[in-house]
Amino acid sequence: MASPLFLCILLVVFGSYVSISAAGDGKQSFVVVSTRSFQTQDVCSTSTGMPRPNGGAVPVVHRHGPCAKSQSTDKPSFAEALHRSRVRTDYIMSRALTMQEQEQEQDEDRVSIPAHLGTSVDSQEYVVTLGLGTPAVEQVVLLDTGSDLSWVQCAPCNSTGCYRQKDPLFDPRKSSTYVPIPCGSDVCNRLQSDHFDDGCTNDGTQCGFRVEYGDGSKTKGVYSNEALTLAPGVVINDFHFGCGYKQGGPNDNYDGLLGLGGAPESLPVQTSAVYSGAFSYCLPPVSSGTGFLALGAPTNTSAFSFTPITPLMNYDTFYTVKLTGISVGGKQLRIPRKVFEGGMIVDCGNIITHLPSTPYAKLESAFRAAMAAYPLLPSDEGDICYNFTGYTNVTVPKVALTFSGGVTVDLDVPNGVLLDGCLAFTESGPDDSVGIIGNVQMRTLEMLYDVSGGRLGFRPVAC
Ligand SMILES: *[C@@H]1O[C@H](CO)[C@@H](O)[C@H](O)[C@H]1NC(C)=O
Ligand SMILES: *[C@@H]1O[C@H](CO)[C@@H](O)[C@H](O)[C@H]1NC(C)=O
Ligand SMILES: *[C@@H]1O[C@H](CO)[C@@H](O)[C@H](O)[C@H]1NC(C)=O
Ligand SMILES: *[C@@H]1O[C@H](CO)[C@@H](O)[C@H](O)[C@H]1NC(C)=O
Repeated sequence: MASPLFLCILLVVFGSYVSISAAGDGKQSFVVVSTRSFQTQDVCSTSTGMPRPNGGAVPVVHRHGPCAKSQSTDKPSFAEALHRSRVRTDYIMSRALTMQEQEQEQDEDRVSIPAHLGTSVDSQEYVVTLGLGTPAVEQVVLLDTGSDLSWVQCAPCNSTGCYRQKDPLFDPRKSSTYVPIPCGSDVCNRLQSDHFDDGCTNDGTQCGFRVEYGDGSKTKGVYSNEALTLAPGVVINDFHFGCGYKQGGPNDNYDGLLGLGGAPESLPVQTSAVYSGAFSYCLPPVSSGTGFLALGAPTNTSAFSFTPITPLMNYDTFYTVKLTGISVGGKQLRIPRKVFEGGMIVDCGNIITHLPSTPYAKLESAFRAAMAAYPLLPSDEGDICYNFTGYTNVTVPKVALTFSGGVTVDLDVPNGVLLDGCLAFTESGPDDSVGIIGNVQMRTLEMLYDVSGGRLGFRPVAC
């Protein structure tokens, strides 16, 4: 087994880069990175970087990386990641469109939102290990800012009801703090307006829940109350979650999902009396790294830059911010601000960043020009993937995103821009439509969702 010191050295070597200046402007606009930093490491690095001191941070790791306790066997290729990301985005777009139509047709019969739906889970990549029940049982759950209701698979459950998972199933019969939520209670009735209800179950006494995701995954069971241990000594006594007895779809290897969206069922909203609805996380630069998730906001936020969070119509799940500009290699792209009007959903369950057509086209063209020294791999899908075979280091332009309020965020180079040697951006749809900020772009940034303050904060080089 490798010593922590050895791991630290590995991290320094693979994370090392030299900044060089673009001619004239004096700013460091290109970064020389070792091509070794593109290779997947199979040793887990437990260094969590510099998480803030308070808040009982939970380690966040990549679902397909060596740190995940319930590691999924295969990491998807870039093409597969792009596909999964698009499925999720298409679903979110169609739902946003439904909301828009609904607003426009207020006087007519109410257009119904597809019931019971959450976003797709297949593109989810980051997991945390939580302790559920008393005594606490470890469960590995997907981190999702794009959905609200948390759930795990529950015993008793046979192979038809539950998919395979590596950890033992959570068994409510073995927990002294488990209580099913009664049917007809306020908490249960609330599920109805949020489209998670599934009637009454177990002789009509218990609250049934159901979630169907955009990629066909689904879960149903009993909405329940339980003790949730986030970190040693950080226990939430009345955590509401779905105890799932019947699951289906493409899920495998994780035990459930942790909903961090803005609707009442999500963890931050449930705990808002204590943590003001605020939470933050940092996604590690590579899949062998470790980041963190923390509830609450730090008392000193001077290291963060903030941009306002704006609502996406009256759909309270998603956190939306406004992008106003993009720069590549230190050069601001000439993009009319108007095309960003649809806003950008900040979605840690999505891999790739989806931009409206004009900003995407400008970004792609500037990036390709800056990377013209390197051969592109042939692609049918229009992906921008480079063949770095034979290079020991490559020069990658810095990409920065500017948000309303004049906040400019430098993405990590190369891990916030490139995924497996491919440009981790794609087109979401026409100009003015809503876009999505995916998890690649968030890597190494501490993302602070200060919901009651109506703002999203970015802290660079946080993990
Ligand atoms: C699994 O359990 C369900 C009820 O939850 C039952 O209908 C089904 O027959 C069981 N399947 C097997 C293979 O035992
Ligand atoms: C807040 O943190 C910054 C560093 O991020 C530090 O320079 C400053 O002194 C801190 N302020 C207070 C009041 O602790
Ligand atoms: C990548 O480049 C190397 C070296 O030039 C070449 O041998 C190889 O065939 C290329 N790979 C692909 C998939 O094009
Ligand atoms: C890039 O790699 C070459 C060897 O191929 C080396 O000579 C050069 O110093 C490297 N440049 C940087 C900035 O690391």
